[in-house]
Amino acid sequence: MSDLVFENVGIRYGSGRSAHEVVRGVSFTVPSGRTVGLVGESGSGKSTLARAVVGLHEPYTGRIRVGGTDVVGARGSAASVRRTVQMIFQDANSCLNPRMSIGASIEEALAVRGRSAGRDRAQRRSEVCALLEMVGLDPARAGDLPMQLSGGQRQRVAIARALAAEPRILLADEITSALDVSVQGTVLNLLMRVQQRLDLTVLFISHNLAVVRQLCEDVAVLKDGELVEAGPATEVIDHPQHPYTHELVRAVPRIGTPLFGDGAAI
Ligand SMILES: Nc1ncnc2c1ncn2[C@@H]1O[C@H](COP(=O)(O)OP(=O)(O)OP(=O)(O)O)[C@@H](O)[C@H]1O
Ligand SMILES: [Mg+2]
Repeated sequence: MSDLVFENVGIRYGSGRSAHEVVRGVSFTVPSGRTVGLVGESGSGKSTLARAVVGLHEPYTGRIRVGGTDVVGARGSAASVRRTVQMIFQDANSCLNPRMSIGASIEEALAVRGRSAGRDRAQRRSEVCALLEMVGLDPARAGDLPMQLSGGQRQRVAIARALAAEPRILLADEITSALDVSVQGTVLNLLMRVQQRLDLTVLFISHNLAVVRQLCEDVAVLKDGELVEAGPATEVIDHPQHPYTHELVRAVPRIGTPLFGDGAAI
């Protein structure tokens, strides 16, 4: 079981007089094998919450558990359970070394997680090719540098790198927002495919409620670091109970709705 459970989580930045609380009393669960959306306006604490799961922030209160084990803290079971969690960021460049071929980057991720132990070079290469194929990239491109790829292709490499670690849980933080609309769909379809194929538990952070409605079974809504509403994505998005969720839904542009002004042609 790989449930991801947030229990009364509170996170602060800074210390002493400069400390400010950015996440307060957040509780919700991403059930094993499901995709839960996390939405809320910019600065509401979505990334902070996800980063706490991989140990980049330590909550000052509450618990974060994966499959029943507390992941807060650096030692013992916390560290080993955290290895089953991978985070994918908005900007694929942040996880790819510009001077390393994409194949070498993926191979490095295999090594970090101990998957290359006892395997010879040819076996590692064939794993890299399998991962590239899984994300829809031609294995013949393994020798390419990140700069030789498009933004969408780089994001696929970032996904392949995350999958190299054989995670049970993926934290996807705005993974398509740096991409052209035309390739966003391809990357999201890929995410859905691997989620189903590998039965992954996914926390999907996004500003795009239309995508969340389509991709996620459930959604949690954050406002100023607090959870204001959670439930089945279609229910929450189609019939929001909280005025804040209502505003978020209202802000989603619809086809035929002018993006600027009162119907001004653009
Ligand atoms: N390293 C940091 N030090 C101090 N404050 C921070 C730090 N990182 C984020 N914050 C603050 O914490 C709050 C939550 O930030 P966070 O990045 O989690 O928001 P977010 O919901 O992911 O926003 P966005 O949708 O813009 O990515 C913001 O007010 C932000 O200014
Ligand atoms: Mg963020």
